[in-house]
Amino acid sequence: MLVFSLLPKRPHLLFLHLSKYVKPHSCGITSLNSPISTSAMKEKNLKYLKVQMPNTILEFHHFWLRDHCRCPACYNSVTCQRNIDIMDIISDDLTIKNKKITEDRLQITWSDGHESSYSLNWLKNNSYEGKNQQKNEKRRRVLWNKTIVNQLNLPPIVQSQLKNDETMREVYDRLFRYGFVKIEQVPPDRESTLNVANQIFLRTCNTVFGNGLWEIGNNFDHKDTGYTSASLDLHTDTTYFTEAIGNLVFHCIDYNGTGGESIYVDGFFVAQELKMKDPEAYDFLSRTEIESEYIEPNHHFVSKGPCFRHHPISGEVEQIRFNLLDRAPLATLPQTEVEQYYHHLRSLTSIIKQKENEFVCRLSPGTVMIFDNFRLLHGRNAYQGTRIVTGCYISRSDYVSRAKTFGIELSA
Ligand SMILES: [Fe+2]
Ligand SMILES: [Zn+2]
Repeated sequence: MLVFSLLPKRPHLLFLHLSKYVKPHSCGITSLNSPISTSAMKEKNLKYLKVQMPNTILEFHHFWLRDHCRCPACYNSVTCQRNIDIMDIISDDLTIKNKKITEDRLQITWSDGHESSYSLNWLKNNSYEGKNQQKNEKRRRVLWNKTIVNQLNLPPIVQSQLKNDETMREVYDRLFRYGFVKIEQVPPDRESTLNVANQIFLRTCNTVFGNGLWEIGNNFDHKDTGYTSASLDLHTDTTYFTEAIGNLVFHCIDYNGTGGESIYVDGFFVAQELKMKDPEAYDFLSRTEIESEYIEPNHHFVSKGPCFRHHPISGEVEQIRFNLLDRAPLATLPQTEVEQYYHHLRSLTSIIKQKENEFVCRLSPGTVMIFDNFRLLHGRNAYQGTRIVTGCYISRSDYVSRAKTFGIELSA
């Protein structure tokens, strides 16, 4: 099994770390070579509190600590919202008067008399430094190509099992690990497709393709190649939305013909391959924003973003955004960078199109396929005959939220 580790170069973060300890010269220019003066060290000690945790020492800025006080005056644990306007409290005069660290808690008395108490575990789980230390202990995604995905041999999940929490957790676990999950023994009709989506995610998105549910056949209901019987190249959906759709739910409710197999490719595996084989292309496509659009009567969606987006702490790729057909006129790049763009795009596309990366399966009535549109690319072969696919869109926000209620952190 392959595990995921993509760490793009992030020199700005290195600078942030260093800049905490190096005082700028009066001219405003920071010299990283200057020795740290005693007064700077003193200033640092006043601003940062070292906290001895069970296995590590973490340092917290006192502004951060004051902002994260969870006492009833500062934080409403019923609404889970802050109670105070922190801008009224934070100032250069605010200092720590007293501190005490017990086995599992940090207690602080502030210069204005306020008292705060923190669980050490909470501090670790909710700070940049704590998360950074834990990133290697996190549950890892399984990146796959054709060989790996065909060896997974996952036991089926049937719709009637969704009533129990253990199964629901497994649904989210599979979505996180592999980027897809299949639900079987679903009646092959529109209503049942919607029921499964609502059972798992609680709600679906209204889009131009349908209020909650859409249906694709060879009918050209919308001005989109999806609504024909032609083959569809691998892509992610809704690159033209300001936030692409999080998950797609597909259910083929009627099939009588030839062809029409669905094709999926793991975009995070592709990212890993590209980073290894052509790091320059990977870097370029991670920082270059390209616009996409979708036009039909009364609608003109348009949005821009890079092909790869990354998590700010772990550096892991969090989203692949790829749809050659939905690209808007290329106006976010000067002509001098255009050649580079097409060159790097070809490098990425050649990996996406490798047959050994494809998971090919025929959607069949009774099986609902749910997959992560931030990770998997999808396409299909051309078909003849009848092929009716119903489905819906799930927002990324709903997906992240629901997964978290089952203990699965998608974005940490
Ligand atoms: Fe699509
Ligand atoms: Zn407080």
